[in-house]
Amino acid sequence: LRHLTSLAPLARPTIERLLDRAESMREACAHGTRKLDLLAGRTILNLFFEPSTRTRTSFELAARRLGADVINFDIGFSSTAKGEELFDTLHTLEAMHLDAIIVRHKQSGTPEELVRHAMSGVSVVNAGDGNHAHPTQGLLDALTIRQHLPDLSKLSVVICGDVKHSRVARSDVHALSTLGVRDLRLCGPASLLPPAEELPQCRLFSDFDQAIEGANVVIMLRLQKERMQTIDFPDEAAYFHAYGLDKRRLALAAPRALVMHPGPINRGIEIASEIADGVQSRILEQVSNGVFVRMAVLAEVLGR
Ligand code: CP
Repeated sequence: LRHLTSLAPLARPTIERLLDRAESMREACAHGTRKLDLLAGRTILNLFFEPSTRTRTSFELAARRLGADVINFDIGFSSTAKGEELFDTLHTLEAMHLDAIIVRHKQSGTPEELVRHAMSGVSVVNAGDGNHAHPTQGLLDALTIRQHLPDLSKLSVVICGDVKHSRVARSDVHALSTLGVRDLRLCGPASLLPPAEELPQCRLFSDFDQAIEGANVVIMLRLQKERMQTIDFPDEAAYFHAYGLDKRRLALAAPRALVMHPGPINRGIEIASEIADGVQSRILEQVSNGVFVRMAVLAEVLGR
């Protein structure tokens, strides 16, 4: 794998190899190996055109733990603010001999465009593009699920919320369906669901009580207001009533169902605090796994 722009084209053995590698890195860390030198001498650039806490920090940590040098490109203080076009920025940065670019952009398809326009051998890793893909989130979600419930073929997984604008939902669907999850349910108001033909691996629900029934994994999504017109913002109290995860609703899922959320969470809008912080919540495990998955991906695309 030279680039990682989406999980959709990846075969099951490739996804499993990345998860196995992330798992070995997690075990090495648990046994005290915090730093490896697999990418010593390599330079990795974080190129984030949208805000991020988890993804940007964990890519930086992952790169440093592998011994690479990391540059965090500050868009606000870059020549992008003076009107420089994306591909001119790309070629300028490539001329400084980078090995990998981690890119987040509001426009779907930007990582693939960078791959097409790159003039050097730089690897491109997608850290989230529009509503298209967030492949490392899909991998870390799959890893978190596999750690608790290894036989994915037996699982029912519900993804609830603003699915329409969610790159996480799309990457989760690609990862989980490729890994053998057969019962994948997407739930949200009709205005926030994608067309049924876009994700034929899934069943669509608009009633959360029905969708969550017996689910082993409940993945909640944030309302992505930054991708909506103000007029389309749902009323938050009504939204929580219909689509929020609270104690009553979680009781409809399978006993000990995993509660997940890619973050950032909006407490009281898509998830109650007592659930986000409760015993079934795996949200902070997802964050921890993000570092190991990103170490695995960087090692893979940089050929080590
Ligand atoms: N899950 C996720 O992408 O979070 P950040 O926006 O904080 O990176």
